[in-house]
Amino acid sequence: MLVKALLSLGLLAGALATPTPPPVQHRPITDYLWPMPRQVVDANATVACNDFWIDIKSNNPDVFNIVSNAFDRFQNSVSVKTHGKWGGSTLPVTIHVADETKASTPAALAGIDESYSLQATKSGIVINATTQAGAVYGLQTLSQLVTPDANLVLGSITDSPRFPYRGILLDTARNYFPVEDIKRILDGLAYSKINVMKWLLYEAQSFTIVWDKYPVLYQEGAYKDAQGKPKVFTKQDIQDVINYAFERNIRIIPVFETPSHNGMFGLVDPSFVSGWKHAPFDGDSYDWANSSYPAGTIVWFGRQYCFGPPCGGLDPRVPGALNLLTEFLTEVGSWFPDPVIHVGHSEANPRLYGVVPDSWDIADQSTLDPFMRAFEPQLVNILKSINKKYGAWDVITTLGMMDLVPKDGIITLGELGGDPVGIIETLAAAGFENVVVSPDPFYFLDCSPSQSWCLYDYEAVSPADTYNLPGYIVSPGQWHNWTKIYTYDPLDGLSPAAAKTVKGGFGTMWAETLKRHNIDRFIFPRIASIAERMWTYDAVALNNKTGVRLDRFRASLVNELKIAAADINYLGNQEGMIYRPEYCDTHLNTPDQTVSAFVFIGAPLTDRDGNPPVDPLQSHYAAHADWCKIASLYTTNSFVYTAPNPVPYPY
Ligand SMILES: *[C@@H]1O[C@H](CO)[C@@H](O)[C@H](O)[C@H]1NC(C)=O
Ligand SMILES: *[C@@H]1O[C@H](CO)[C@@H](O)[C@H](O)[C@H]1NC(C)=O
Ligand SMILES: *[C@@H]1O[C@H](CO)[C@@H](O)[C@H](O)[C@H]1NC(C)=O
Ligand SMILES: *[C@@H]1O[C@H](CO)[C@@H](O)[C@H](O)[C@H]1NC(C)=O
Ligand SMILES: *[C@@H]1O[C@H](CO)[C@@H](O)[C@H](O)[C@H]1NC(C)=O
Repeated sequence: MLVKALLSLGLLAGALATPTPPPVQHRPITDYLWPMPRQVVDANATVACNDFWIDIKSNNPDVFNIVSNAFDRFQNSVSVKTHGKWGGSTLPVTIHVADETKASTPAALAGIDESYSLQATKSGIVINATTQAGAVYGLQTLSQLVTPDANLVLGSITDSPRFPYRGILLDTARNYFPVEDIKRILDGLAYSKINVMKWLLYEAQSFTIVWDKYPVLYQEGAYKDAQGKPKVFTKQDIQDVINYAFERNIRIIPVFETPSHNGMFGLVDPSFVSGWKHAPFDGDSYDWANSSYPAGTIVWFGRQYCFGPPCGGLDPRVPGALNLLTEFLTEVGSWFPDPVIHVGHSEANPRLYGVVPDSWDIADQSTLDPFMRAFEPQLVNILKSINKKYGAWDVITTLGMMDLVPKDGIITLGELGGDPVGIIETLAAAGFENVVVSPDPFYFLDCSPSQSWCLYDYEAVSPADTYNLPGYIVSPGQWHNWTKIYTYDPLDGLSPAAAKTVKGGFGTMWAETLKRHNIDRFIFPRIASIAERMWTYDAVALNNKTGVRLDRFRASLVNELKIAAADINYLGNQEGMIYRPEYCDTHLNTPDQTVSAFVFIGAPLTDRDGNPPVDPLQSHYAAHADWCKIASLYTTNSFVYTAPNPVPYPY
């Protein structure tokens, strides 16, 4: 049996000379915890402590190392929190890990038992877990029970998550974030007991993977730093991130969006991509926010090529394109040990693939059905041949090929947003077994102009007005603040059969408007709202303790993990400016970032009855004419992460 007995802090000698302070007046133990454990018994007592020993009972060296590293992080966290305040006893932390074979590889995190129990008494702490995942969570919970005046709040906890998928989608393609930023974010996710990161590594605007088979993809497709070096992730970087995440119980699921958002594959061969760099693109000519449009009045939908420049969708009707996709999924997919690959499917559209003539003003989405029905079995076969499970957005429900999608796939409710209950019921009725939620009115963490829910603040004013900076400030009503996020529960309103399909939820962090200096405050602490919903069994009600608990949790993120988390009252209103993908720095004023809106080159503009269009939302459209215009307001991409100043712990 491997036993680690460790006294890690060198402050013991000084501490022994200090008289033991009296136990502090403690708050209810639940005040200290986030996310709230399943079952908590308050011992109504504290013990003064100055350090912890660890004794890991495990026969598996991998488990031993992971738990041991988690204990080192725990010690660091505690020493930051209690610094300068020593006294009391040194307590043993005894950790039993029962199943010592299960999770020594990242792939084994899928479906792992995450439960643990924790007993904190005056004579020491016992953490029992089935796997190392539970042991790591037990240590995180324990660190929350330490107070800044070096007391341990005593009690006993039995804990396990409500859902197996508790995640975030991180986009490092719209704007680039290096490995050090990703690791810092993973630290905070782990502390929130988030266990999945979907990683979006390419978009039409940048391809961030060093894939040696087709180096042109990153050599020409990635953003460049000031020295001209591409901003990319090597295979080693990706493995580094996966291993770092693994030690923190976090699965990494790659997001390889297809067939849309695939313009960059045109760098290999322009014939592989339909509508490559189509200019002008047509970003958003239908007012999604206006639900009072009668059916059939989506007059301008047909003029749409893609949702963001540069345009382009993989064209699997071209054999070379399908081969390229197969090679990509097979080789780069194999770098990710997780069983799931998320293949997206968002925002495919008929006009891009030329399945309707350009002269048609209306292109019903169903005109794309034959195209998708031909593509989908090919994609499903590729995934099957490389032994990967299918993941996609809930747009599969509208693409006319839902019957071809594997029912054990992981389907993310998200982009349609409109009717989460209806969509989950539809998926359940069709036999889908795994639905995870990320409804944009609650769980989308960005506030980019591409999102209709914040479109008006950024873009609805006239172009002249938009150059007044206050026009770019996120209005409180449109920022998804932590309380709004917290109030959504995926099971609300569902039939029992549909509720059974729900396996968790994700925050979605599109990065169009993010740079390195503000990503922390966009993610934290709001992701913790999602984390608690997804972790806590009988979803805890929002009450007058929730904000207090979250505020203390946030202090740990800032002080112990150096995450520049926003104040819990932050409403997105301190930005003063929004940012564009780095793509805009080199494409400002170029045709391929111009939105067609009412100007359709080469064709007279009519509505579906042949009449001149009546613009119901003139200002909205007019402001859309130049997708990159905000880029002209800032002149640098040398945004840096700055370690935050410490904040006081509220208690
Ligand atoms: C702690 O105090 C609460 C409230 O007074 C009580 O219900 C609970 O039983 C106490 N716990 C223990 C372990 O004594
Ligand atoms: C923890 O595990 C040990 C060893 O199996 C056992 O003796 C102890 O009773 C367990 N404690 C709890 C609270 O389950
Ligand atoms: C929504 O659309 C209807 C029908 O076109 C229009 O009358 C109404 O003004 C629109 N509302 C808003 C807020 O734009
Ligand atoms: C948070 O969002 C909700 C819902 O949009 C809103 O009612 C509430 O006022 C917001 N909170 C603050 C402090 O603005
Ligand atoms: C918080 O809510 C509890 C239970 O509803 C109530 O007893 C308490 O007075 C409230 N505290 C404050 C400060 O509002």
